Amino acid sequence: MEQQTSHSTIDNPLREGLSLERLPSPCAMVIFGASGDLTRRKLMPALYDLALEGLLPPGFSVIGFARSAKTNDEFRSEVRESIRQFARRTPIDEGLLRNFEEGISYISGDFSSLDDYNRLSEELDRLDRERNTRGNRVYYLATPPVAYAEIAGNLSHQNLVHSLNDERWTRLIVEKPFGHDFNSAKELNETLLQYLAEEQIYRIDHYLGKETVQNMLAFRFANGIFEPIWNRTFIDHVQITVAESIGIENRGGYYDQAGALRDMVQNHMLQLMSLVSMEPPPAFDADSVQDEKVKALRSIRPIKPDEVDHVTVRGQYAEGWVMGNPYPSYRDESRVDPQSVTETFVALKLFIDNWRWAGVPFYLRTGKHLPRRVSEIAIQFHKAPHPPFETSVTESLEPNVLAIRIQPDEGITLKTNAKVPGPSMRLRSVNMGFLYGTSFLVESPDAYERLLLDCMLGDSTLFPRRDGIEASWEPITQILEGWERSGISTLPMYPAGTWGPDEADDFMARDGRLWRQP
Ligand code: BG6
Repeated sequence: MEQQTSHSTIDNPLREGLSLERLPSPCAMVIFGASGDLTRRKLMPALYDLALEGLLPPGFSVIGFARSAKTNDEFRSEVRESIRQFARRTPIDEGLLRNFEEGISYISGDFSSLDDYNRLSEELDRLDRERNTRGNRVYYLATPPVAYAEIAGNLSHQNLVHSLNDERWTRLIVEKPFGHDFNSAKELNETLLQYLAEEQIYRIDHYLGKETVQNMLAFRFANGIFEPIWNRTFIDHVQITVAESIGIENRGGYYDQAGALRDMVQNHMLQLMSLVSMEPPPAFDADSVQDEKVKALRSIRPIKPDEVDHVTVRGQYAEGWVMGNPYPSYRDESRVDPQSVTETFVALKLFIDNWRWAGVPFYLRTGKHLPRRVSEIAIQFHKAPHPPFETSVTESLEPNVLAIRIQPDEGITLKTNAKVPGPSMRLRSVNMGFLYGTSFLVESPDAYERLLLDCMLGDSTLFPRRDGIEASWEPITQILEGWERSGISTLPMYPAGTWGPDEADDFMARDGRLWRQP
Protein backbone atom coordinates (compact mmCIF):
# COMPACT_ATOMS: atom_id res chain seq x y z
CA MET A 1 0.00 0.00 0.00
CA GLU A 2 1.22 3.50 -0.78
CA GLN A 3 1.55 5.92 2.07
CA GLN A 4 -0.33 9.14 2.60
CA THR A 5 2.30 11.11 4.41
CA SER A 6 3.78 14.51 4.21
CA HIS A 7 7.48 14.10 4.90
CA SER A 8 10.47 12.53 3.27
CA THR A 9 13.99 12.08 4.59
CA ILE A 10 14.92 15.00 2.40
CA ASP A 11 13.94 18.21 4.18
CA ASN A 12 12.11 20.45 1.88
CA PRO A 13 10.36 23.76 2.44
CA LEU A 14 8.56 23.52 -0.92
CA ARG A 15 6.82 20.49 0.42
CA GLU A 16 4.68 22.49 2.82
CA GLY A 17 1.10 22.62 1.76
CA LEU A 18 1.45 19.51 -0.37
CA SER A 19 0.54 17.10 2.39
CA LEU A 20 -2.26 15.56 0.38
CA GLU A 21 0.05 14.45 -2.44
CA ARG A 22 0.59 10.72 -2.67
CA LEU A 23 4.00 9.40 -1.61
CA PRO A 24 5.35 6.09 -2.89
CA SER A 25 6.43 3.46 -0.41
CA PRO A 26 10.21 3.20 0.16
CA CYS A 27 12.07 1.68 -2.76
CA ALA A 28 15.30 1.47 -4.74
CA MET A 29 15.62 2.13 -8.46
CA VAL A 30 18.15 0.29 -10.61
CA ILE A 31 18.95 1.99 -13.90
CA PHE A 32 20.39 -0.38 -16.50
CA GLY A 33 22.32 1.62 -19.07
CA ALA A 34 23.16 4.29 -16.51
CA SER A 35 26.02 5.70 -18.59
CA GLY A 36 23.70 6.77 -21.37
CA ASP A 37 22.20 10.04 -22.43
CA LEU A 38 18.72 9.31 -21.12
CA THR A 39 20.01 8.86 -17.57
CA ARG A 40 22.00 12.05 -17.79
CA ARG A 41 19.49 14.30 -19.52
CA LYS A 42 16.20 13.01 -18.20
CA LEU A 43 16.17 10.41 -15.44
CA MET A 44 18.55 11.89 -12.88
CA PRO A 45 17.31 15.47 -13.31
CA ALA A 46 13.70 14.24 -13.00
CA LEU A 47 14.52 12.32 -9.81
CA TYR A 48 16.24 15.36 -8.34
CA ASP A 49 13.22 17.54 -9.19
CA LEU A 50 10.95 15.00 -7.53
CA ALA A 51 13.19 15.11 -4.45
CA LEU A 52 12.92 18.87 -4.46
CA GLU A 53 9.14 18.62 -4.51
CA GLY A 54 9.33 16.22 -1.58
CA LEU A 55 7.69 13.50 -3.63
CA LEU A 56 10.31 10.77 -3.22
CA PRO A 57 9.89 8.23 -0.43
CA PRO A 58 12.20 8.19 2.59
CA GLY A 59 15.51 6.43 1.89
CA PHE A 60 14.98 6.49 -1.88
CA SER A 61 18.10 5.08 -3.56
CA VAL A 62 19.40 4.65 -7.09
CA ILE A 63 21.85 2.08 -8.39
CA GLY A 64 23.40 2.82 -11.76
CA PHE A 65 24.26 -0.40 -13.62
CA ALA A 66 26.32 -0.19 -16.81
CA ARG A 67 29.36 -1.67 -18.52
CA SER A 68 31.82 1.19 -18.13
CA ALA A 69 34.15 0.91 -15.19
CA LYS A 70 33.68 3.69 -12.65
CA THR A 71 33.54 4.15 -8.91
CA ASN A 72 30.56 5.28 -6.87
CA ASP A 73 32.20 8.68 -6.52
CA GLU A 74 32.77 9.05 -10.23
CA PHE A 75 29.17 8.14 -10.96
CA ARG A 76 27.91 10.54 -8.30
CA SER A 77 29.92 13.35 -9.76
CA GLU A 78 28.48 12.61 -13.23
CA VAL A 79 25.01 12.67 -11.73
CA ARG A 80 25.74 15.97 -9.99
CA GLU A 81 26.84 17.53 -13.27
CA SER A 82 23.80 16.25 -15.14
CA ILE A 83 21.50 17.68 -12.48
CA ARG A 84 23.25 21.02 -12.59
CA GLN A 85 22.85 21.07 -16.35
CA PHE A 86 19.37 19.67 -16.85
CA ALA A 87 17.30 19.98 -13.66
CA ARG A 88 14.11 21.93 -14.20
CA ARG A 89 14.32 23.98 -11.04
CA THR A 90 17.27 26.23 -10.59
CA PRO A 91 19.26 27.37 -8.70
CA ILE A 92 20.26 23.96 -7.43
CA ASP A 93 19.60 23.29 -3.76
CA GLU A 94 23.10 22.13 -2.78
CA GLY A 95 22.04 20.64 0.55
CA LEU A 96 19.29 18.62 -1.04
CA LEU A 97 21.62 17.52 -3.83
CA ARG A 98 24.14 16.19 -1.27
CA ASN A 99 21.37 14.29 0.47
CA PHE A 100 20.13 12.89 -2.84
CA GLU A 101 23.65 11.76 -3.78
CA GLU A 102 24.01 9.74 -0.59
CA GLY A 103 21.47 7.32 -1.99
CA ILE A 104 23.34 6.79 -5.26
CA SER A 105 25.70 3.94 -6.03
CA TYR A 106 27.11 2.29 -9.12
CA ILE A 107 27.77 -1.24 -10.32
CA SER A 108 29.98 -1.81 -13.28
CA GLY A 109 28.44 -4.93 -14.75
CA ASP A 110 27.70 -6.94 -17.82
CA PHE A 111 24.02 -7.49 -18.65
CA SER A 112 24.75 -11.15 -19.36
CA SER A 113 26.89 -11.99 -16.32
CA LEU A 114 24.99 -13.71 -13.53
CA ASP A 115 27.78 -12.83 -11.10
CA ASP A 116 27.09 -9.19 -11.74
CA TYR A 117 23.42 -9.70 -10.85
CA ASN A 118 24.57 -11.31 -7.62
CA ARG A 119 26.55 -8.18 -6.85
CA LEU A 120 23.45 -6.17 -7.66
CA SER A 121 21.45 -8.34 -5.31
CA GLU A 122 23.95 -7.73 -2.50
CA GLU A 123 23.82 -4.00 -3.08
CA LEU A 124 20.02 -4.05 -2.99
CA ASP A 125 20.13 -6.00 0.28
CA ARG A 126 22.48 -3.42 1.70
CA LEU A 127 20.06 -0.65 0.75
CA ASP A 128 17.20 -2.54 2.37
CA ARG A 129 19.21 -2.78 5.58
CA GLU A 130 20.84 0.63 5.65
CA ARG A 131 18.27 2.81 3.92
CA ASN A 132 15.18 0.79 4.64
CA THR A 133 14.11 0.39 1.02
CA ARG A 134 12.03 -2.62 2.12
CA GLY A 135 12.70 -4.91 -0.81
CA ASN A 136 10.74 -2.73 -3.26
CA ARG A 137 12.42 -2.26 -6.62
CA VAL A 138 12.00 -0.34 -9.85
CA TYR A 139 14.20 -1.61 -12.67
CA TYR A 140 14.61 0.89 -15.49
CA LEU A 141 15.77 -0.49 -18.84
CA ALA A 142 17.55 2.45 -20.44
CA THR A 143 19.70 0.15 -22.57
CA PRO A 144 19.66 -0.73 -26.25
CA PRO A 145 16.52 -2.84 -26.86
CA VAL A 146 18.53 -5.99 -27.69
CA ALA A 147 19.34 -6.23 -23.97
CA TYR A 148 15.74 -6.04 -22.65
CA ALA A 149 14.90 -9.73 -22.72
CA GLU A 150 18.26 -10.79 -21.31
CA ILE A 151 18.10 -8.37 -18.40
CA ALA A 152 14.54 -9.32 -17.51
CA GLY A 153 15.47 -13.01 -17.71
CA ASN A 154 18.56 -12.61 -15.54
CA LEU A 155 16.72 -10.56 -12.93
CA SER A 156 14.15 -13.29 -12.71
CA HIS A 157 16.70 -16.15 -12.57
CA GLN A 158 18.63 -14.44 -9.80
CA ASN A 159 15.43 -14.01 -7.75
CA LEU A 160 15.41 -10.27 -8.15
CA VAL A 161 11.76 -10.22 -9.24
CA HIS A 162 9.14 -10.64 -6.52
CA SER A 163 5.86 -12.26 -7.39
CA LEU A 164 2.63 -10.28 -7.24
CA ASN A 165 1.67 -12.05 -4.00
CA ASP A 166 4.80 -10.85 -2.23
CA GLU A 167 4.30 -7.74 -0.15
CA ARG A 168 7.55 -6.37 -1.63
CA TRP A 169 6.90 -5.05 -5.10
CA THR A 170 8.96 -5.18 -8.31
CA ARG A 171 8.29 -2.98 -11.36
CA LEU A 172 10.11 -2.89 -14.68
CA ILE A 173 10.15 0.23 -16.85
CA VAL A 174 10.90 -0.43 -20.50
CA GLU A 175 12.02 2.39 -22.76
CA LYS A 176 11.18 2.72 -26.42
CA PRO A 177 11.65 1.40 -29.04
CA PHE A 178 9.40 -1.46 -27.99
CA GLY A 179 10.01 -3.77 -30.97
CA HIS A 180 10.63 -2.76 -34.57
CA ASP A 181 7.42 -4.16 -36.06
CA PHE A 182 4.28 -5.99 -34.95
CA ASN A 183 5.90 -9.42 -34.61
CA SER A 184 8.95 -8.26 -32.69
CA ALA A 185 6.78 -6.20 -30.30
CA LYS A 186 4.55 -9.21 -29.70
CA GLU A 187 7.57 -11.41 -29.14
CA LEU A 188 9.08 -8.94 -26.68
CA ASN A 189 5.80 -8.81 -24.78
CA GLU A 190 5.68 -12.59 -24.61
CA THR A 191 9.27 -12.81 -23.42
CA LEU A 192 8.87 -10.19 -20.71
CA LEU A 193 5.66 -11.83 -19.57
CA GLN A 194 7.57 -15.05 -18.89
CA TYR A 195 9.42 -13.22 -16.14
CA LEU A 196 7.01 -10.58 -14.86
CA ALA A 197 3.26 -10.06 -14.70
CA GLU A 198 1.63 -7.45 -16.93
CA GLU A 199 0.94 -5.35 -13.80
CA GLN A 200 4.70 -5.18 -13.19
CA ILE A 201 5.64 -3.97 -16.69
CA TYR A 202 5.62 -0.22 -17.40
CA ARG A 203 6.22 0.56 -21.10
CA ILE A 204 7.12 4.19 -21.03
CA ASP A 205 5.99 6.74 -23.63
CA HIS A 206 7.13 10.12 -22.38
CA TYR A 207 4.45 11.97 -24.38
CA LEU A 208 1.86 10.56 -22.00
CA GLY A 209 3.64 12.28 -19.11
CA LYS A 210 3.27 15.70 -20.72
CA GLU A 211 0.81 17.85 -18.84
CA THR A 212 -1.01 19.02 -21.98
CA VAL A 213 -1.46 15.48 -23.20
CA GLN A 214 -3.14 14.53 -19.94
CA ASN A 215 -5.17 17.68 -20.14
CA MET A 216 -6.78 16.26 -23.25
CA LEU A 217 -8.66 13.86 -20.99
CA ALA A 218 -9.67 16.67 -18.64
CA PHE A 219 -10.71 18.87 -21.53
CA ARG A 220 -12.81 16.21 -23.22
CA PHE A 221 -14.33 14.52 -20.21
CA ALA A 222 -14.59 17.23 -17.54
CA ASN A 223 -16.53 19.63 -19.78
CA GLY A 224 -20.04 19.13 -20.99
CA ILE A 225 -19.87 21.18 -24.17
CA PHE A 226 -17.22 19.47 -26.29
CA GLU A 227 -18.17 15.80 -26.24
CA PRO A 228 -21.53 16.31 -28.02
CA ILE A 229 -19.72 17.84 -31.02
CA TRP A 230 -16.73 15.47 -30.91
CA ASN A 231 -17.76 13.34 -33.87
CA ARG A 232 -18.21 13.07 -37.63
CA THR A 233 -21.32 15.26 -37.66
CA PHE A 234 -19.32 18.32 -36.58
CA ILE A 235 -15.69 17.50 -37.27
CA ASP A 236 -14.27 17.72 -40.80
CA HIS A 237 -10.83 16.31 -39.99
CA VAL A 238 -8.08 16.17 -37.37
CA GLN A 239 -4.43 17.20 -37.87
CA ILE A 240 -1.72 16.06 -35.49
CA THR A 241 1.65 17.74 -35.98
CA VAL A 242 4.84 16.99 -34.08
CA ALA A 243 7.44 19.22 -35.69
CA GLU A 244 11.03 19.26 -34.49
CA SER A 245 13.66 21.82 -35.36
CA ILE A 246 16.47 19.51 -34.20
CA GLY A 247 17.96 16.87 -36.47
CA ILE A 248 19.05 13.38 -35.49
CA GLU A 249 21.65 14.64 -33.00
CA ASN A 250 24.43 12.04 -33.17
CA ARG A 251 21.92 9.22 -33.16
CA GLY A 252 22.57 8.22 -36.77
CA GLY A 253 23.14 4.56 -35.90
CA TYR A 254 19.74 4.22 -34.26
CA TYR A 255 17.79 6.62 -36.45
CA ASP A 256 18.86 5.20 -39.79
CA GLN A 257 17.34 1.86 -38.76
CA ALA A 258 14.23 3.46 -37.28
CA GLY A 259 13.03 6.47 -39.31
CA ALA A 260 10.30 8.94 -38.37
CA LEU A 261 7.46 6.43 -38.60
CA ARG A 262 8.91 4.13 -35.95
CA ASP A 263 10.60 6.87 -33.92
CA MET A 264 7.59 9.17 -33.50
CA VAL A 265 4.39 7.86 -35.08
CA GLN A 266 4.13 4.31 -33.72
CA ASN A 267 4.39 5.55 -30.15
CA HIS A 268 3.89 9.25 -29.40
CA MET A 269 1.60 10.21 -32.26
CA LEU A 270 -0.65 7.17 -32.14
CA GLN A 271 -0.96 7.68 -28.40
CA LEU A 272 -2.09 11.25 -29.06
CA MET A 273 -4.51 10.00 -31.70
CA SER A 274 -5.97 7.42 -29.33
CA LEU A 275 -6.58 10.08 -26.66
CA VAL A 276 -8.36 12.35 -29.13
CA SER A 277 -10.51 9.59 -30.53
CA MET A 278 -11.25 7.23 -27.61
CA GLU A 279 -14.71 6.88 -26.09
CA PRO A 280 -15.21 8.31 -22.58
CA PRO A 281 -13.87 5.77 -20.06
CA PRO A 282 -16.21 4.87 -17.18
CA ALA A 283 -13.45 5.70 -14.66
CA PHE A 284 -10.00 7.26 -14.65
CA ASP A 285 -8.15 4.11 -13.75
CA ALA A 286 -5.55 2.20 -15.71
CA ASP A 287 -7.74 -0.50 -17.18
CA SER A 288 -10.73 1.69 -17.98
CA VAL A 289 -8.52 4.19 -19.83
CA GLN A 290 -6.46 1.52 -21.60
CA ASP A 291 -9.57 -0.39 -22.70
CA GLU A 292 -10.90 2.66 -24.53
CA LYS A 293 -7.56 3.62 -26.04
CA VAL A 294 -6.99 0.11 -27.33
CA LYS A 295 -10.48 0.01 -28.87
CA ALA A 296 -9.73 3.22 -30.77
CA LEU A 297 -6.36 1.91 -31.99
CA ARG A 298 -7.89 -1.36 -33.07
CA SER A 299 -10.48 0.54 -35.11
CA ILE A 300 -7.82 2.16 -37.31
CA ARG A 301 -8.68 1.07 -40.85
CA PRO A 302 -6.15 -1.50 -42.10
CA ILE A 303 -3.94 -0.23 -44.92
CA LYS A 304 -3.46 -2.54 -47.90
CA PRO A 305 0.05 -2.66 -49.41
CA ASP A 306 -1.05 -1.03 -52.68
CA GLU A 307 -2.75 1.82 -50.79
CA VAL A 308 0.30 2.76 -48.79
CA ASP A 309 1.65 5.27 -51.31
CA HIS A 310 -1.72 7.04 -51.40
CA VAL A 311 -1.99 7.48 -47.65
CA THR A 312 1.62 8.33 -46.79
CA VAL A 313 4.31 10.79 -47.86
CA ARG A 314 7.94 10.37 -46.91
CA GLY A 315 10.69 12.94 -47.03
CA GLN A 316 14.33 13.32 -46.11
CA TYR A 317 16.10 16.54 -45.23
CA ALA A 318 18.68 18.02 -47.56
CA GLU A 319 21.16 20.61 -46.36
CA GLY A 320 19.67 23.86 -45.22
CA TRP A 321 19.30 26.38 -42.42
CA VAL A 322 17.26 26.09 -39.25
CA MET A 323 16.90 29.14 -37.05
CA GLY A 324 20.00 30.76 -38.44
CA ASN A 325 22.26 27.69 -38.33
CA PRO A 326 23.44 25.62 -41.29
CA TYR A 327 22.94 21.85 -41.28
CA PRO A 328 24.19 19.05 -43.56
CA SER A 329 21.85 16.75 -45.45
CA TYR A 330 20.63 13.62 -43.68
CA ARG A 331 22.75 11.37 -45.88
CA ASP A 332 25.85 13.29 -44.79
CA GLU A 333 25.19 12.75 -41.07
CA SER A 334 27.59 10.46 -39.25
CA ARG A 335 26.62 6.78 -39.01
CA VAL A 336 23.99 7.22 -41.73
CA ASP A 337 24.16 5.22 -44.95
CA PRO A 338 25.05 7.70 -47.75
CA GLN A 339 22.36 5.97 -49.90
CA SER A 340 19.85 5.88 -47.06
CA VAL A 341 16.12 5.92 -47.84
CA THR A 342 15.17 6.37 -44.19
CA GLU A 343 12.46 8.99 -43.79
CA THR A 344 13.11 12.00 -41.58
CA PHE A 345 9.64 13.35 -42.41
CA VAL A 346 6.41 11.45 -42.72
CA ALA A 347 2.81 12.47 -43.27
CA LEU A 348 -0.06 10.03 -43.25
CA LYS A 349 -3.82 9.79 -43.39
CA LEU A 350 -5.62 7.33 -41.17
CA PHE A 351 -9.29 6.56 -40.62
CA ILE A 352 -10.97 5.17 -37.55
CA ASP A 353 -13.74 2.88 -38.66
CA ASN A 354 -16.34 3.27 -35.96
CA TRP A 355 -19.66 5.08 -35.54
CA ARG A 356 -18.13 8.26 -34.10
CA TRP A 357 -15.36 8.76 -36.67
CA ALA A 358 -16.58 7.15 -39.89
CA GLY A 359 -15.23 9.16 -42.82
CA VAL A 360 -13.18 11.65 -40.72
CA PRO A 361 -9.52 11.68 -41.83
CA PHE A 362 -6.79 11.96 -39.22
CA TYR A 363 -3.72 13.55 -40.81
CA LEU A 364 -0.47 13.02 -38.93
CA ARG A 365 2.88 14.58 -39.76
CA THR A 366 6.22 14.73 -38.07
CA GLY A 367 9.71 15.59 -39.16
CA LYS A 368 13.24 16.52 -38.16
CA HIS A 369 14.76 19.87 -39.06
CA LEU A 370 11.43 21.57 -39.67
CA PRO A 371 11.35 25.34 -39.10
CA ARG A 372 10.32 25.17 -35.44
CA ARG A 373 9.59 22.88 -32.55
CA VAL A 374 5.86 22.70 -32.22
CA SER A 375 3.40 19.93 -31.41
CA GLU A 376 -0.32 20.37 -31.66
CA ILE A 377 -3.56 18.59 -32.28
CA ALA A 378 -5.99 20.59 -34.40
CA ILE A 379 -9.64 19.64 -34.65
CA GLN A 380 -11.13 21.30 -37.70
CA PHE A 381 -14.91 21.63 -37.71
CA HIS A 382 -17.23 21.81 -40.71
CA LYS A 383 -17.87 25.28 -42.05
CA ALA A 384 -21.09 27.06 -41.11
CA PRO A 385 -23.75 25.51 -43.37
CA HIS A 386 -25.42 28.71 -44.56
CA PRO A 387 -23.78 32.00 -43.57
CA PRO A 388 -26.33 34.69 -44.42
CA PHE A 389 -23.78 37.20 -45.77
CA GLU A 390 -22.78 38.41 -49.20
CA THR A 391 -20.60 36.07 -51.22
CA SER A 392 -17.59 38.36 -50.92
CA VAL A 393 -17.91 38.07 -47.14
CA THR A 394 -18.54 34.35 -46.92
CA GLU A 395 -15.57 33.61 -49.16
CA SER A 396 -13.29 34.81 -46.41
CA LEU A 397 -14.95 32.63 -43.78
CA GLU A 398 -12.65 30.14 -42.16
CA PRO A 399 -13.67 26.91 -40.45
CA ASN A 400 -13.57 26.78 -36.66
CA VAL A 401 -10.44 25.05 -35.40
CA LEU A 402 -9.79 23.88 -31.89
CA ALA A 403 -6.02 23.69 -31.49
CA ILE A 404 -4.53 21.88 -28.54
CA ARG A 405 -0.94 23.05 -28.23
CA ILE A 406 1.23 20.42 -26.60
CA GLN A 407 4.51 22.33 -26.75
CA PRO A 408 5.75 25.02 -26.53
CA ASP A 409 3.28 27.71 -25.28
CA GLU A 410 1.02 24.98 -23.93
CA GLY A 411 -2.64 25.79 -24.17
CA ILE A 412 -5.84 25.53 -26.16
CA THR A 413 -7.26 27.98 -28.68
CA LEU A 414 -10.53 28.05 -30.56
CA LYS A 415 -10.49 29.87 -33.86
CA THR A 416 -13.78 31.62 -34.61
CA ASN A 417 -14.94 34.24 -37.11
CA ALA A 418 -15.66 37.74 -35.85
CA LYS A 419 -16.81 41.01 -37.36
CA VAL A 420 -14.09 43.54 -38.02
CA PRO A 421 -15.14 46.84 -36.36
CA GLY A 422 -16.49 49.36 -38.90
CA PRO A 423 -19.55 50.26 -40.92
CA SER A 424 -19.53 47.23 -43.24
CA MET A 425 -19.79 43.52 -42.57
CA ARG A 426 -16.26 42.24 -42.85
CA LEU A 427 -15.06 39.08 -41.10
CA ARG A 428 -11.77 37.93 -39.74
CA SER A 429 -10.79 34.93 -37.70
CA VAL A 430 -9.85 35.47 -34.07
CA ASN A 431 -8.68 33.13 -31.31
CA MET A 432 -10.23 32.46 -27.94
CA GLY A 433 -7.58 30.95 -25.80
CA PHE A 434 -6.33 29.42 -22.61
CA LEU A 435 -2.60 29.39 -21.92
CA TYR A 436 -1.10 27.27 -19.18
CA GLY A 437 1.52 29.89 -18.48
CA THR A 438 -0.97 32.64 -17.70
CA SER A 439 -3.79 30.59 -16.16
CA PHE A 440 -1.76 28.59 -13.67
CA LEU A 441 1.48 30.55 -13.19
CA VAL A 442 3.35 27.37 -12.35
CA GLU A 443 5.76 25.48 -14.49
CA SER A 444 4.58 22.02 -15.54
CA PRO A 445 6.66 19.10 -14.31
CA ASP A 446 8.77 17.26 -16.84
CA ALA A 447 7.10 14.18 -18.34
CA TYR A 448 9.67 11.87 -16.75
CA GLU A 449 8.96 13.25 -13.28
CA ARG A 450 5.32 12.34 -13.58
CA LEU A 451 5.93 8.91 -15.08
CA LEU A 452 8.68 7.85 -12.67
CA LEU A 453 6.49 8.88 -9.77
CA ASP A 454 3.45 7.05 -11.15
CA CYS A 455 5.48 3.89 -11.54
CA MET A 456 6.69 4.07 -7.94
CA LEU A 457 3.08 4.56 -6.90
CA GLY A 458 1.98 1.55 -8.92
CA ASP A 459 -0.29 3.63 -11.14
CA SER A 460 -0.06 2.48 -14.77
CA THR A 461 -2.82 4.68 -16.22
CA LEU A 462 -0.31 6.62 -18.30
CA PHE A 463 1.62 3.58 -19.54
CA PRO A 464 0.50 1.72 -22.67
CA ARG A 465 -0.63 -1.82 -21.99
CA ARG A 466 0.52 -4.86 -23.95
CA ASP A 467 -2.50 -4.91 -26.26
CA GLY A 468 -2.17 -1.15 -26.88
CA ILE A 469 1.42 -1.50 -28.03
CA GLU A 470 0.53 -4.34 -30.36
CA ALA A 471 -2.51 -2.50 -31.74
CA SER A 472 -0.36 0.54 -32.52
CA TRP A 473 2.18 -1.58 -34.37
CA GLU A 474 -0.45 -2.99 -36.73
CA PRO A 475 -1.00 0.00 -39.05
CA ILE A 476 2.69 0.91 -38.78
CA THR A 477 3.75 -2.55 -39.91
CA GLN A 478 1.30 -2.40 -42.82
CA ILE A 479 2.88 0.87 -43.92
CA LEU A 480 6.42 -0.46 -43.50
CA GLU A 481 5.56 -3.48 -45.62
CA GLY A 482 4.04 -1.27 -48.31
CA TRP A 483 7.15 0.92 -48.37
CA GLU A 484 9.39 -2.11 -48.55
CA ARG A 485 7.53 -3.34 -51.61
CA SER A 486 7.80 -0.04 -53.43
CA GLY A 487 11.61 -0.45 -53.34
CA ILE A 488 12.49 3.17 -54.15
CA SER A 489 16.07 4.43 -54.12
CA THR A 490 15.52 8.08 -53.17
CA LEU A 491 12.93 9.95 -51.17
CA PRO A 492 11.44 13.38 -51.81
CA MET A 493 13.87 15.90 -50.30
CA TYR A 494 13.16 19.04 -48.31
CA PRO A 495 15.76 21.61 -47.35
CA ALA A 496 16.37 21.61 -43.59
CA GLY A 497 14.31 24.45 -42.15
CA THR A 498 11.21 23.96 -44.35
CA TRP A 499 7.87 22.26 -43.64
CA GLY A 500 8.70 19.00 -45.45
CA PRO A 501 8.64 18.04 -49.13
CA ASP A 502 6.22 19.64 -51.62
CA GLU A 503 4.61 16.23 -51.93
CA ALA A 504 3.19 16.69 -48.42
CA ASP A 505 1.28 19.78 -49.56
CA ASP A 506 0.09 18.02 -52.71
CA PHE A 507 -1.10 15.16 -50.52
CA MET A 508 -3.40 17.52 -48.59
CA ALA A 509 -4.38 19.46 -51.70
CA ARG A 510 -5.69 16.25 -53.29
CA ASP A 511 -8.21 16.13 -50.45
CA GLY A 512 -9.02 19.83 -50.86
CA ARG A 513 -7.32 20.67 -47.55
CA LEU A 514 -4.27 22.52 -46.27
CA TRP A 515 -1.78 21.83 -43.51
CA ARG A 516 -1.99 24.32 -40.70
CA GLN A 517 1.09 26.46 -40.13
CA PRO A 518 1.21 26.33 -36.34
C1 BG6 B 1 11.91 10.68 -28.79
C2 BG6 B 1 12.49 10.46 -30.16
O1 BG6 B 1 11.09 9.59 -28.44
O2 BG6 B 1 11.15 11.87 -28.76
C3 BG6 B 1 13.32 11.66 -30.59
O3 BG6 B 1 13.29 9.29 -30.18
C4 BG6 B 1 12.53 12.93 -30.45
O4 BG6 B 1 13.79 11.49 -31.91
C5 BG6 B 1 11.88 13.04 -29.07
O5 BG6 B 1 13.40 14.03 -30.68
C6 BG6 B 1 10.93 14.21 -29.01
O6 BG6 B 1 10.50 14.41 -27.69
P1 BG6 B 1 10.08 15.86 -27.17
O7 BG6 B 1 9.57 15.62 -25.79
O8 BG6 B 1 11.29 16.73 -27.25
O9 BG6 B 1 9.00 16.33 -28.12
